[in-house]
Amino acid sequence: MRIKYTISLVFFVTLVIIVMENNIISRVSDKLTLKQTPQTPLQPSGLSHILPKHNASFTTFSKTNSAFSLIKRRLENYSQHKEVVTRGSKHILLLATTRTGSSFVGEFFNQQGDNMFFLFEPLWHVEKMLTLETGSTNSTALAKAYQDVLQQLFLCDFSLLESFIEPLPVNHITTVLFRRESSSTLCQESVCSPVIEGVFERYRCTTRRCGHLNLTMASESCLQKEHRAIKSVRVHQLENLRPLAEDPRLDVKFIQLVRDPRAVLASRMVAFPAKCKNWTQWAIDSEVPIDDVEVRKLKRNCDNIMLSAEIGLRQPAWLRRRYMLLRYEDIARFPMRKATDMYRFAGIPFTPQVKSWILKNTQASKETSGVYSTQKNSSEQVEKWRFSLPFKIAQVVQKVCGPMLKLFGYKFVSSEEMLRDKSISLIEDKVFNFV
Ligand SMILES: *[C@@H]1O[C@H](CO)[C@@H](O)[C@H](O)[C@H]1NC(C)=O
Ligand SMILES: *[C@@H]1O[C@H](CO)[C@@H](O)[C@H](O)[C@H]1NC(C)=O
Ligand SMILES: *[C@@H]1O[C@H](CO)[C@@H](O)[C@H](O)[C@H]1NC(C)=O
Ligand SMILES: *[C@@H]1O[C@H](CO)[C@@H](O)[C@H](O)[C@H]1NC(C)=O
Ligand SMILES: *[C@@H]1O[C@H](CO)[C@@H](O)[C@H](O)[C@H]1NC(C)=O
Ligand SMILES: *[C@@H]1O[C@H](CO)[C@@H](O)[C@H](O)[C@H]1NC(C)=O
Repeated sequence: MRIKYTISLVFFVTLVIIVMENNIISRVSDKLTLKQTPQTPLQPSGLSHILPKHNASFTTFSKTNSAFSLIKRRLENYSQHKEVVTRGSKHILLLATTRTGSSFVGEFFNQQGDNMFFLFEPLWHVEKMLTLETGSTNSTALAKAYQDVLQQLFLCDFSLLESFIEPLPVNHITTVLFRRESSSTLCQESVCSPVIEGVFERYRCTTRRCGHLNLTMASESCLQKEHRAIKSVRVHQLENLRPLAEDPRLDVKFIQLVRDPRAVLASRMVAFPAKCKNWTQWAIDSEVPIDDVEVRKLKRNCDNIMLSAEIGLRQPAWLRRRYMLLRYEDIARFPMRKATDMYRFAGIPFTPQVKSWILKNTQASKETSGVYSTQKNSSEQVEKWRFSLPFKIAQVVQKVCGPMLKLFGYKFVSSEEMLRDKSISLIEDKVFNFV
């Protein structure tokens, strides 16, 4: 009887302790989850007063213990890097593919002003170095390298990128950073070394005369800026960037820019006639070999874009409030409205500099002559491809990229007449919802 009573008591006390521990763990986990939310960064001191108080039971429950040590280790990891985490800092990644207007949209961030560190296609170097002489790549290795380099760059660390630059920078100095002049921050006074006569700068600054790019100076400048943005047409799968979204040192916002694949191909055929010789040939010939390497490449591109967008639109926990899908056609037609949306999504104030850049560089500057005429003219620009792309080629694109056209709201054309008829818009009104 007495033994039975004692056992029950011990059992009861144990139960109470377990319940208490669980409470603490969930409180701690809540805090850790909160930490992931950018708006409420975790105060490390907020946890330190909880942890030591409950030391006593550590040895009793090994499971609890290991849960705690995991949390503690994470916390240590977090504290180690807390100097990097700046309240409110945003890390914007503009993801696109070639000929989707990404340079233009990248300017929306490049022109932000003094608070933004912008990089234009830094992954160019990574792709170049990891592409074999045969032109093939190991996509697993490439994806990992992209992820690591982007993660470091968002933390203003250029060391990994340096290892991909050829020739290898000496003392962090390089003359060949791809399109340096397209990142306004890399040509600012603070990153401008004196000119050395007789040395060829591959990508010269156009806004002022600068010498070699000193990547230590670039890194220092980056650390001074509140926000960072990178534009890339090289990432194939959004999912590969999950570690960035989950990195507590970062507050990453992914903006995926898409465009009608028929327009992209039409644009490629004009911009890279040599690369598109086969397409041009097929336009004249009778049959398009649907299993040709070029057609398969087109299908793979469409599938990759769609897969990323499907993940983004599904809003898994790791992407919540971190993903935005944008159609180039909407930006071209309503640049100011879409830029405002992008800035709101990124959580960054929309500066007068950006506004005036957009006014200067888009049809929006003609808004004085009436909204209607502006919109009509912009639509014309965006649908110009409809007069250059052979109907047969449009059909092939519709065949291999059909699901993508549907997902993004691009209307199929069923005849040459429909393709060329300007009164029929091929862009369906479509709202992609984000929370
Ligand atoms: C509590 O735990 C910490 C870390 O595990 C240890 O350094 C400290 O001595 C413990 N305090 C007590 C009172 O057991
Ligand atoms: C702490 O950081 C290291 C390296 O950054 C990582 O390997 C490890 O998994 C992290 N630990 C936890 C508990 O997150
Ligand atoms: C690709 O790279 C990964 C990681 O570096 C490696 O494990 C794999 O063997 C490579 N695959 C091929 C086909 O070379
Ligand atoms: C590059 O910049 C860093 C930081 O400003 C400076 O210490 C270093 O001397 C510079 N390197 C050269 C070669 O000028
Ligand atoms: C173009 O077509 C020819 C014949 O179909 C094919 O052998 C060749 O590989 C194609 N070229 C490209 C760049 O795909
Ligand atoms: C559209 O804009 C272009 C260039 O800005 C201009 O040349 C053209 O006349 C405009 N078209 C119409 C219909 O307003």
